[in-house]
Amino acid sequence: MGIVIAVANQKGGVGKTTTANALALGLKRGRNKVLAVDLDPQGNLSFSLGAATENVRAAYHVLAKECGAGEAIQKTPLADVIAGNIMLSSVQIDAAQNNWEFILRNALSEVRSVYDYIIVDTPPALSVLTINAFTAADGLLVPILADIFSLQGLARLNDTVVRVREYSNPALRMLGIVLTRYNARTVLSREIRATAQMIADELNLPLLNAAVRASVVIAEAQSMQVNMFKYMPRNNAVRDYKKLVQELIERGL
Ligand SMILES: Nc1ncnc2c1ncn2[C@@H]1O[C@H](COP(=O)(O)OP(=O)(O)O)[C@@H](O)[C@H]1O
Ligand SMILES: [Mg+2]
Repeated sequence: MGIVIAVANQKGGVGKTTTANALALGLKRGRNKVLAVDLDPQGNLSFSLGAATENVRAAYHVLAKECGAGEAIQKTPLADVIAGNIMLSSVQIDAAQNNWEFILRNALSEVRSVYDYIIVDTPPALSVLTINAFTAADGLLVPILADIFSLQGLARLNDTVVRVREYSNPALRMLGIVLTRYNARTVLSREIRATAQMIADELNLPLLNAAVRASVVIAEAQSMQVNMFKYMPRNNAVRDYKKLVQELIERGL
């Protein structure tokens, strides 16, 4: 049974999509079968993995129950992908409808046995899409920037996780918080790391040792639709992502 990992943070621009891309490609390096699911209407993960977003069966159709998960999978040279596109912003998941939280979980159950890992990228919101991702997930990974606003958002995110555990997914595990675009050379970054550790301890969330440094190579690999681990394996940020994957596995992913 594939392990489902959701990458989430209600803040935009914190590295969710980049981390989802790195997880999908990083876990594949270990010869695992990986499916990437893009729940963000922006479709950035789909693009970076070489999937089409227009005129294809995509996550929208799965959530609208117009097709099964299997029918929405695109196989690209980089990964298997269920694409996200703008239609997702209009998906009518009626919160009054019974079991609306379970639509993605139920849909993925059809393909779970085929994959070792299913990575779900989420939009920058705590929306019905995010709740569907949390309900489908075994584990949650939370990228944050080393800034005070990211830290402030953690408590709210954690409240949502607690509620999801209560109502729709008691088994949801917090895999950890990962600092992205991190610059260990600045005093501010180091202070933020210390503060992040305090907040993580308070909320009882693991702050991962791996922190991903900033590098233009990361954005380059995404826009060129190439695998960062092959494109620039010795780049610092790419090595950090390798460490992150390793750490998650060591922690019993
Ligand atoms: N480690 C990094 N170094 C440099 N740029 C990064 C890094 N991580 C992400 N980025 C860039 O920052 C922007 C936001 O990242 P993204 O993963 O799209 O965030 P989110 O999905 O949370 O909105 C993107 O342009 C991405 O290429
Ligand atoms: Mg994103």
